[in-house]
Amino acid sequence: MTQSEFDAWSAGQSYEHYMGRWSRKIASRFVGWVDPSQNADWLEIGCGTGALTEAILAAANPRSIVSTDKSEDFITHAAAQIADDRVSFKVAEATDIPLADASVDWVVSALVLNFIPDKLKALDEMRRVLRPNGTAAFYVWDYPGGGMGFIDAFWKSAAALDPEAAKLDESERFPFCQKKGLDQLCRDAGATDTEIVAIEEETRFPDFEAFWHPFTLGAGPAPGYVKSLPDERQQMLKDHLADKLGASGPVSLPARAWAVKLKWH
Ligand SMILES: C[S@@+](CC[C@H](N)C(=O)[O-])C[C@H]1O[C@@H](n2cnc3c(N)ncnc32)[C@H](O)[C@@H]1O
Repeated sequence: MTQSEFDAWSAGQSYEHYMGRWSRKIASRFVGWVDPSQNADWLEIGCGTGALTEAILAAANPRSIVSTDKSEDFITHAAAQIADDRVSFKVAEATDIPLADASVDWVVSALVLNFIPDKLKALDEMRRVLRPNGTAAFYVWDYPGGGMGFIDAFWKSAAALDPEAAKLDESERFPFCQKKGLDQLCRDAGATDTEIVAIEEETRFPDFEAFWHPFTLGAGPAPGYVKSLPDERQQMLKDHLADKLGASGPVSLPARAWAVKLKWH
């Protein structure tokens, strides 16, 4: 079992239900924190179903946004949702962006950097397309700090039933997703100016069934893992989680992202 085997990036509607809706809550606060210049040219890397693209449109009055993702499915979904002449959608790898050198003012990404095998190459690519004095900014979940509560709860139960599943837990896979690790990554990428803050939100589900349902939809690492299990092991995992979180009543868990802004002078 490889760690990325279950990183299922397809089926926009399912992803939106599992994660996109929570990323949206962070995205609008992230754009506020970034405090961008108006009328600027933007690149987004790993736009998924468009949470951050929409937040930029709503708050930053951009001149243009090129929104990219390696998943054709997600690009099709996002393009169908966002009809705005300023936005163009392109299928592209984070490390091979189809833009000229020094062509945008802002490069951003949401919940993506940890999934890119060569993070320094991706940061180099951000730097390449930025104009002088441009800014890169991104956010990732605080996986090691248990900051994405529903994912943390999921993998704890999965590992209790299947020790192999511990390797798939994002907190194991992405230990750099904390303030110190992110700061070091930015230094390694040659950034001269880095700011990092936490953005916290809550994920609220009306009941346990509403909490569990997105895990059955197959989009994202944890849902990809559920999909790989036979029915009876899915049921065992569901029962284990219900035991931990309470089978009746609302489920409310914290969500904490680290937001990072970096420049190269
Ligand atoms: C957790 S989702 C985040 C999606 C969206 N930005 C959001 O905040 O909801 C991770 C996204 O990164 C994309 N992705 C993963 N690896 C990538 C790579 N190497 N290059 C480009 N996109 C990538 C996936 O297709 C997926 O859309």
